[in-house]
Amino acid sequence: MKKSQYLAITIALIAGSVQAYAQKGDAAKGKEVFEQCAVCHNADSAEQKMGPGLKGLYKAAKMKSTGKAPSDATVGGKIDEGGGGMPAYKEMLSAPEKANLLAYLKTL
Ligand code: HEC
Repeated sequence: MKKSQYLAITIALIAGSVQAYAQKGDAAKGKEVFEQCAVCHNADSAEQKMGPGLKGLYKAAKMKSTGKAPSDATVGGKIDEGGGGMPAYKEMLSAPEKANLLAYLKTL
């Protein structure tokens, strides 16, 4: 096999495993990450605390803050960027922590 073929296969394998890792969040671990969010967010009701209650977040047609349909991109984007009284978590959470957090938010 040519060197370039080895390289292509290696890259494909790495890309595949990174993607699998990014998608597989652990909701139980995400619940622990959420402890730092709970000061401002209810998880067990949609009632406003400092920020909107997050119960039913992924089941709602629109996010309260952005009006966009909830998805990993829009919810993850809000968590990354913050704004409107919410801190930005882009630098504060690792990629696996964020994947776990999103998995947990989907259970609410
Ligand atoms: C200091 C208080 C505070 C903390 C801590 C906080 N948030 Fe927020 N969050 C807010 C506020 C205020 C908003 C509304 C912002 C807006 O209207 O633009 C918000 C909005 C959101 C939204 C959008 C909800 C919707 O329906 O639009 C999500 C999702 C969210 N926060 C998740 C989190 C997560 C996850 C964490 C922890 C990593 C967190 N927040 C930590 C205050 C906070």
